[in-house]
Amino acid sequence: MTLCVKIPIKKTQEVKEFLMTKGLIDQRYKPKKEKEHILIPIKKKGVKKEFKYVSYENANVEVKKEKGGIKKRLEGKLTKEEMKRIQRAYDIVGSIAIIEIPKGLERKEKLIAETIFNINKNIKTVLKKAGIHSDEFRTIPLRWVTGKKTKETTAKENKVQLKLNVEKVYYSPRSSNERKRIMELIKPEEEVLVMFSGCGPFTCVIAKNTPAKMVVGVEKNPIGHEYEKENIKLNRLKNAKAILGDVRDMVPKLGRFDRILMPLPMIAEEFLDLALKAIKKGGTIHLYQFINWEEKDKLRKKVRDICAREGKRCRILRIVKSGQFSPKTSRVCVDIKVQ
Ligand SMILES: C[S@@+](CC[C@H](N)C(=O)[O-])C[C@H]1O[C@@H](n2cnc3c(N)ncnc32)[C@H](O)[C@@H]1O
Repeated sequence: MTLCVKIPIKKTQEVKEFLMTKGLIDQRYKPKKEKEHILIPIKKKGVKKEFKYVSYENANVEVKKEKGGIKKRLEGKLTKEEMKRIQRAYDIVGSIAIIEIPKGLERKEKLIAETIFNINKNIKTVLKKAGIHSDEFRTIPLRWVTGKKTKETTAKENKVQLKLNVEKVYYSPRSSNERKRIMELIKPEEEVLVMFSGCGPFTCVIAKNTPAKMVVGVEKNPIGHEYEKENIKLNRLKNAKAILGDVRDMVPKLGRFDRILMPLPMIAEEFLDLALKAIKKGGTIHLYQFINWEEKDKLRKKVRDICAREGKRCRILRIVKSGQFSPKTSRVCVDIKVQ
């Protein structure tokens, strides 16, 4: 409830002018119109006695959607030191914003979350990161801060819809450009394997937007797998399928592919032998890694050594940056042509 002055509509102008000159209007809130009155939110009581037709009332008023980014909107509400530590970037997955509250700013998390909530009308929920990525499924604990209490949403990217629970399944909207890059490389009738497919972003984007004959996703997280199946249906894809299991167990049973994607940058190289066995002659493997960009020659050598060990002739077509993991660490993709 917000303290307001209740003014007969015909008298709005003169009272409003007075309130403005005294700096009494609370600009964070929208005025509320009733049948014969208008309620203007104020910071404190202070209306002239001569305005006999005016009264005070506590009312439910809407918060104004302010302009500007998060930093601008928080100016004056946080100290200079706190402002320095605020992260400009936060992820939006469907209708959910995911924020990171720097240590020491926990008491301000509601204010920060509300500010983000008010930036974009498509944000219905704000969650905060409450831990780090777990090892195996790459998921992260998330805690509700404001808005609708849900962790499930439907993201849109590259002309597909992806339903997921953002806490139970890994998905990064920041990789959508990389998915577009891969999608544009696909040739007609390709058979594509997506190892570590999660809720199916690569699987669905490729199946929907390219002339691929079949796209197969393999995912170990049962919840991720269920969403991948659901997303294949949601996007009405006939040329895609989802398989539940560990790639070590499942991939050897799946035959050979023209293209294999390996989007598990932490440890994907440990599975490169598996991909080299499952790739057709002349096929391409996309291996994701985290590296310091200065050390890309080391990565080239590592890939060449694994290929040699597996008795495969490989050509590294390119190494492309596909994201930033930390200030010094890039997420890269090595495109490998296998002879
Ligand atoms: C970094 S996420 C990528 C998910 C998705 N491809 C994307 O781009 O959003 C890696 C995924 O690999 C899965 N995963 C990890 N080890 C696996 C394995 N041995 N076999 C199958 N899936 C695995 C995790 O559960 C997680 O969903």
